[in-house]
Amino acid sequence: MKKSKTSFFCQHCGYMSPKWLGKCPSCNGWNCFAEELVSEPDSGGRAHMSFDGKPLPIEEISADEGERMLTGIAEIDRVLGGGIVSGSAILIGGEPGIGKSTLMLQVMKNIASGGSKVLYVSGEESAHQIKLRSNRIDAAAKDLLVLVEVSLEKILDHVKKIDPAIVVIDSIQTMYSGDLLSAPGSVGQVREASSRLILSAKKNGIPVFLIGHVTKDGSIAGPKVLEHMVDTVLYFEGDAGHAYRIIRSIKNRFGPTNEIGVFEMQDKGLREVPNPSSFFLAERPQNAPGSVVVSSLEGTRPILVEIQALVSQSNLGMPRRTAIGVDHNRVSLLVAVLDRICGLHLGGSDIFINVAGGVRVEEPAVDLGVVAAMASSFLDRPVDPKTVIVGEVGLTGEVRAVSQMETRVKEASRLGFNRCILPKTNMVSLNRTAKMEISAISSLKDLLENLF
Ligand code: TYD
Ligand code: MG
Repeated sequence: MKKSKTSFFCQHCGYMSPKWLGKCPSCNGWNCFAEELVSEPDSGGRAHMSFDGKPLPIEEISADEGERMLTGIAEIDRVLGGGIVSGSAILIGGEPGIGKSTLMLQVMKNIASGGSKVLYVSGEESAHQIKLRSNRIDAAAKDLLVLVEVSLEKILDHVKKIDPAIVVIDSIQTMYSGDLLSAPGSVGQVREASSRLILSAKKNGIPVFLIGHVTKDGSIAGPKVLEHMVDTVLYFEGDAGHAYRIIRSIKNRFGPTNEIGVFEMQDKGLREVPNPSSFFLAERPQNAPGSVVVSSLEGTRPILVEIQALVSQSNLGMPRRTAIGVDHNRVSLLVAVLDRICGLHLGGSDIFINVAGGVRVEEPAVDLGVVAAMASSFLDRPVDPKTVIVGEVGLTGEVRAVSQMETRVKEASRLGFNRCILPKTNMVSLNRTAKMEISAISSLKDLLENLF
C-alpha cells in the first residue's frame, strides 16, 4: 500500500514546511500553517495537464487578441481594460458577504441576454438558493446555466460538453479534485483546481472567473496563493457599514492596474455608481474645521474624497494616533513635519484621520490634504469648502509634484470647485482655465498662508 505523507502549508501564501511553524518565513504571517495530506507523485498522474504546444517562431504567432467580450456593466468593463479577453483567467477576491456572487450573477445574466451560453458553477449554494437570488436581482435568462457541483473533473466534463462563452466558479475554495488527498479549501486543492481550470480556459479560449474568499484568520487558503497563476486579479472591497462597494484591479495582463469600479449594494443587487466623486462628497459638512477635499487618482480615474481630521488635547501619556483610509505611517510622518517645519505643536494631541465614506486612498498625492485637515482642526479654522488640495509632502516640508494634475483639476472643476492648491512644479504642464483659481505652492509654509 502507498504510504500517505503530510506536510504543513501556509494558508496565506502556500509555503510548504515538513514541520509546523508559528510564523511563515515567506509571508511573515502568524499561526497560518495547516497540515495537509500530500499524494505521492504517481507516474503519469499529471499527464492530462498539457497545452500540447510546439515551438513556433515568434513572428508567426498572431498578436490578435480577438474581440473582447463586454459584460454590459461599464464599471466592470473598464476595470478589466475594455472587456473580457478570450481564454483569460480572472480572479475575484473579497470577504464573505461582500457581493461577489451577486456581481457575477449580474454579469452572467447580461452576457446570457446577449444570446451567449454561460455557465455559473456554484459549490456553495443550492440551485434553489441561486434561483431565489436571481429573482431578487431579476437575473433570469434562457442561456444562463447553473451547475451545482464541487468535483473538478465533473465540471471540466460539463464545460467540454456545453462549450459556454464564459464560466464562473463560485468559489474556488469549494472545488475538489479526486487526484489529491487533501481537503477542499486547502492550499493543495485550491492550486490544483485553479491550474486545471486555467489550463482548460487557455486551451479552449473560454474565459473563466474564479471567485475566491479572503478571510482574515486564514482558515481557508486565500486568493494570494493564486495571484501569480491568473491573468487578472480583481478585489472587491467595501465596508459592512457602507452600501458602496469598490472593485479594484490589482494585476491585469490586458489592461491598467489599480483601476476601480464603484457600485452600490441595493435591495435589488449591485448598481453602478458612474459618478463616485459626488457620491463620496454627498454628506460633507460645510465650513467645518478639519474637513478637506482632495483629488485622488485611482487607476486612470480621478476621485474627489473628503479627508477629515480631529486634533484634540490628549489626556494620555502617549497620545492616540488613528488613521482610517490613509496609511498610518504616512500620517505619523506628516505630523512630525507639521511639528518641526510649521511649528504647529501636535505632540501632545490625539489625532484621528478618517476618509469619509470608508474609501481607502493610498497615493502620496493626498499628503497635502491630510496636512491641511490636521492644521485646520488644530487651529480650529475651516478650509474654504470650494477648495481642492493636491500634492505630495517631503520630509523638509517641500511640496512635490504629482502625476496627471490636469485630470485631477478637471474633475474638481466639473464638481463645482473653484480653487485648487497644488505644487508649483505642476504648473509647467497645466492649462489654466478661467473658472478655476490656482494657488501654486512649494512648501508647507505657503500652504498655511494660502489656506486661511
Ligand atoms: P453575496 O453576493 O452572497 O456575497 P459573497 O458571494 O461575496 O459572499 O452577497 C451577499 C450580501 O449582499 C448579503 O449580505 C445580502 C446582500 N444583498 C443585498 O443587499 N441586495 C441584493 O439584492 C442581494 C442579492 C444581496
Ligand atoms: Mg458567494
